[in-house]
Amino acid sequence: MTKQVLILPGDGIGPEITAEAVKVLEALKASDNLDIEMTEDLVGGAAYDVHGVPLADETMDKAQASDAVLLGAVGGYKWESLDISVRPEKGLLRLRKEMNLFANLRPAVLFPQLASASTLKPEVVAGLDILIVRELTGGIYFGQPRGIRTLENGERQGYNTYVYSESEVKRIAHVAFQAAMKRNKKLTSVDKANVLEVTEMWREVVDEIAPQYPEVEVKHMYVDNAAMQLVLNPKQFDVMVTGNMFGDILSDEASMLTGSIGMLASASLDENNKGMYEPSHGSAPDIAGQNIANPLATILSAAMMLRYSLGREDLAVKIENAISKVLDQGLRTGDIYSDGMTKVSCSEMGDAVVAAL
Ligand code: IPM
Ligand code: MG
Repeated sequence: MTKQVLILPGDGIGPEITAEAVKVLEALKASDNLDIEMTEDLVGGAAYDVHGVPLADETMDKAQASDAVLLGAVGGYKWESLDISVRPEKGLLRLRKEMNLFANLRPAVLFPQLASASTLKPEVVAGLDILIVRELTGGIYFGQPRGIRTLENGERQGYNTYVYSESEVKRIAHVAFQAAMKRNKKLTSVDKANVLEVTEMWREVVDEIAPQYPEVEVKHMYVDNAAMQLVLNPKQFDVMVTGNMFGDILSDEASMLTGSIGMLASASLDENNKGMYEPSHGSAPDIAGQNIANPLATILSAAMMLRYSLGREDLAVKIENAISKVLDQGLRTGDIYSDGMTKVSCSEMGDAVVAAL
């Protein structure tokens, strides 16, 4: 049966990078019987400009009815001073929450061709292959109460709530343990249990589940130390599991180990592997519309979509191999460019991946 894929390009470089991923998917439809139908809709600032909200109810319904969603990026200067309730980011957060996409998988894998593109020494990052499992629908991003209030003395006070219930920790921990079982069987759970009770409980729940996965070696690490260890000795990590905000921060940090945030894909999954796929980077409004962005994170996200939601592991591998080939050919967008390589535009990179398929 034809699978339905909703494409949400969003803002900034979003439309440019998703266009390249769509190009790759179209090529696979023609060459490899990829049976999908793609429809496009608005999210983020682009949706706000038309509907007055960053995600229209009709778009939410379409996302729920689709087999998978591929999203570019949201946000930009133009919408920064809007009320927080209608900012572009809220469209993305609504999709995650209402589709129940609690498991965010962010692989930080170094293509060997890019070892010199990282700001870290090649020997520190060569062979790097980390999977960050980030809880995506809870924690301080969604905790209530939240807001900005005025105290009796007239001073304003901003507040958010960092909260996790046991069941939320359990389900993300299971995802992480299962991922570790398929990899090197090493799991690092990241918390701030020395200060925050919510993560003290997180640590306890992870330890309670661990006996169900006796082969997995579990370590706990405070988030400040984890941030340091990621640049000191990143290859000590296999799977890392953590809450929503720590995962947001650590995944940006980990992306730079791979040479550029323009290489980091992500999958956000519900209990049934229905998912939304997006590059881990943002909308980069400073370079939007110039056709210079790196589309590879989005193309790699499309590969993850084929793997997890569309049952086409074969085509996921095919895309990954094509990207490797293009890097072998020396083609680089500006963010991963180094001397002696050939600098290409966003669309040229997409074309090269299609040619390499
Ligand atoms: C990410 C982004 C989002 C997040 C923003 C755009 C809301 O930084 O996907 O990492 O904080 O989750
Ligand atoms: Mg982020």
